[in-house]
Amino acid sequence: MNSSQIGKFITIEGVEGVGKTTNIDFIRQWLKQQGIPHINTREPGGTPLAESIRELLLSPREEAVDENTELLMMFAARAQHLAQVIKPALGRGEWVVCDRFTDATYAYQGGGRGVSMEKIAQLEMLVQDTLRPDLTFVLDIPVDQGLARAKSRSTPDRFEREKLAFFDRVRDCYLTRAKAAPDQYRVVDASQSLEGVQADLAMLLDQYLSSSSWGQAGE
Ligand code: TMP
Repeated sequence: MNSSQIGKFITIEGVEGVGKTTNIDFIRQWLKQQGIPHINTREPGGTPLAESIRELLLSPREEAVDENTELLMMFAARAQHLAQVIKPALGRGEWVVCDRFTDATYAYQGGGRGVSMEKIAQLEMLVQDTLRPDLTFVLDIPVDQGLARAKSRSTPDRFEREKLAFFDRVRDCYLTRAKAAPDQYRVVDASQSLEGVQADLAMLLDQYLSSSSWGQAGE
């Protein structure tokens, strides 16, 4: 297949309450305006089986969840999602906008829970081979602000019940990963007004589109 026919894989990350949903809507609107075919999906989830795994992962429960169990369930859901949704869409030339992906595993299971990054990298290779997001937006906000927003809208799930220090480690991990690979990551200050966040997103997307080979014939 001609490389210019392969869609781009965009992921959106951040701690709870950072405004992912609203900003993903904005990104989709931007793609629509550019006439770029795309799908919108999320992790954990994105297929019926992966959504069932999501329910198991997010429900608060009495039983302590072993960190390897949680890690493997994240990657089990991801394997299904990749096979059923993400890879077929990219192969059709569509862009995939995904609410969280493996960066969340590094941040939550690695940074938050303390699972070794090497272990996560091994599963990443097993499940994804060389597939990685082309572009990742890290919506960044001080953890206390994000959690206050998240708590005001619904009953906390199993992750939202974690302590502030857990989310500080999650945030640090996102920022560290972003700093290490500036070609892939764009950190957006999500503590500013929604208009400000979306102006930044539009500028970064414009820059990305003009620098990427997408849609150009003969590449
Ligand atoms: P959401 O609330 O953004 O939909 O995400 C569900 C929760 O799952 C969120 O607290 C982050 C967590 N999560 C992980 O811990 N590891 C992962 O790999 C993913 C994708 C999500």
